[in-house]
Amino acid sequence: MIMSTLINGKEVSLLLRENIKSETALLKDRYNKVPKLAVILVGNNPASQTYVNSKGKAALECGFEYKDYFLSDNTTEEELINLVNTLNNDESVNGILVQLPLPKHINEEKVINTIKSEKDVDGFSPYNTGLLAIGEDCLMPCTPAGILELLKYYNISTVGKRVCVIGRSNIVGKPIALMLMQKGWDATVTVCNSKTENLTEETKRADIIIAAIGKPNFLTGDMVSDGAVVIDVGINRVEDKTKKKGYRIVGDCDFDSLVDKCSFITPVPGGVGPMTITLLMNNTLKAFKNHLEK
Ligand code: GUN
Repeated sequence: MIMSTLINGKEVSLLLRENIKSETALLKDRYNKVPKLAVILVGNNPASQTYVNSKGKAALECGFEYKDYFLSDNTTEEELINLVNTLNNDESVNGILVQLPLPKHINEEKVINTIKSEKDVDGFSPYNTGLLAIGEDCLMPCTPAGILELLKYYNISTVGKRVCVIGRSNIVGKPIALMLMQKGWDATVTVCNSKTENLTEETKRADIIIAAIGKPNFLTGDMVSDGAVVIDVGINRVEDKTKKKGYRIVGDCDFDSLVDKCSFITPVPGGVGPMTITLLMNNTLKAFKNHLEK
């Protein structure tokens, strides 16, 4: 049995937010301006509504200006694109975020491609993705950037280590793989997906496992080697009648069977989750500073 360290994303997130808040205050004194974030939500997905509300609260806490746009389910693609263009052309707006998923009748790719790359605080645009791939400075996707901050804070070196990423989404799997193979991080990265054969062979030889596959309790203790670092990116709602809301949140990792085998593990909630919003604030501040320099 190994004494594993719980990675406290809430604590790291608070520390980073304090830095963002004080830098924002300094910039406000100097330029009499603060970063402004605009968030668009189409439809009434309850999880998305919760995320958007948390983003607004965090922005205000950091001293930013914030505006949200709650649009109905039957908003057309054209209407949404028009709104994005209005925000693109609004000099006072530094960051634009369109909450995903969008309703089926709207082409997500087309909408994301409309966001000006310098205001793309999610880091999802093809331009920012391309910069990330070639190792240039860019607005990086928030969840993987948050994972890097956690690794830094806990002094978990990735140099020469085997990292197994489970999941190949554009939001987490692909970008975290790109980041960790970059010079400086120097990891040997394997990216798995739901069709990977002998997945356990891959996870067992990994020093660090990043689970971002969107399946509740998918990674179990028998799939990892002693001393592995486990980063759980999952946020899954599972039915739980004993809870007031009728559900509880579980990650992609089976915490109970893993905790005695890992050197470090992120809990869900309170691990990676809080970092995503903090890195969104960081990107908004960065977009603001880049705009000041122009
Ligand atoms: N839906 C789930 N995660 C995200 C995210 O990081 N950004 C946006 N825009 N939508 C999401």
